[in-house]
Amino acid sequence: MPSGKHVTTLELLEAKRAGRKIVVLTAYDALFAQLLDESGVDVVLVGDSVNTVLAGQDSTLSATLEQMIYHTRMVRAGVRRALVIIDLPFLTYQVSIEEAKRNAGRAMQLTGANGVKLEGGLAIRETVRALVDIGIPVMGHVGFTPQSVHALGGARVQGRGAQAGDRIVADAKALEEAGAFSVVLELMPSPVAARVTQALAIPTIGIGSGPHCDGQVLVLHDMLGLNQRFQAKFVKAYANLGEQVRAAVRQFADEVRDGRYPDAAHSFEQ
Ligand code: KIV
Repeated sequence: MPSGKHVTTLELLEAKRAGRKIVVLTAYDALFAQLLDESGVDVVLVGDSVNTVLAGQDSTLSATLEQMIYHTRMVRAGVRRALVIIDLPFLTYQVSIEEAKRNAGRAMQLTGANGVKLEGGLAIRETVRALVDIGIPVMGHVGFTPQSVHALGGARVQGRGAQAGDRIVADAKALEEAGAFSVVLELMPSPVAARVTQALAIPTIGIGSGPHCDGQVLVLHDMLGLNQRFQAKFVKAYANLGEQVRAAVRQFADEVRDGRYPDAAHSFEQ
């Protein structure tokens, strides 16, 4: 969104209508969030991927609402312009609509986020409707949904074959009908993502779903080459910060060990 004011969910809709691609990245702290915001990213997503990327866990399943609130408060502090979305973690919205309302409401109230993201399609449409009805903007997430990694048999491409593709279209349509303002399409063949994108008036945000989505999202630490534990075909490394960090730390260690650091320029004489 080229303007200097806050990005809104309505502007994302407008971007789709105008054919402008939407740029989304994850952040988990104020420092990176500010860098993304200053670089003109439209949406900063505080993904529950924080649990794998920063907390070193094997999946997103053990992320908690407290953890998401903690990280989103930091992100909110770094962002002036972009839309900030908080992921609702596993079991905070699946048990009952009442719990979903309370947890989503708390997430909004305690963080200043502009909306929440939930995983699932038809199965959660009444929950999405209930959140939208109390004024909480909802971003959906279909295709590969990491909170269901065990049920899906691992992180694998979804929607291969006509019926599976139809199910993804139906899931995304259900979210739109329930009032979601946007839907993440994760790990699906490009033609399926293209069908979903054509079928919806709300914008689709792709990750591992090809070029036909209305926008794209990546996990920041993956695209910066910082998270070298995670390699996937769809991730393009725009930098190799992991290697740069290692080189800098090795140089620091060498200089400390052989007495070159600190030198006079980095010391106080009086
Ligand atoms: O948790 C996350 O970072 C996400 C994005 C990858 C879409 O859900």
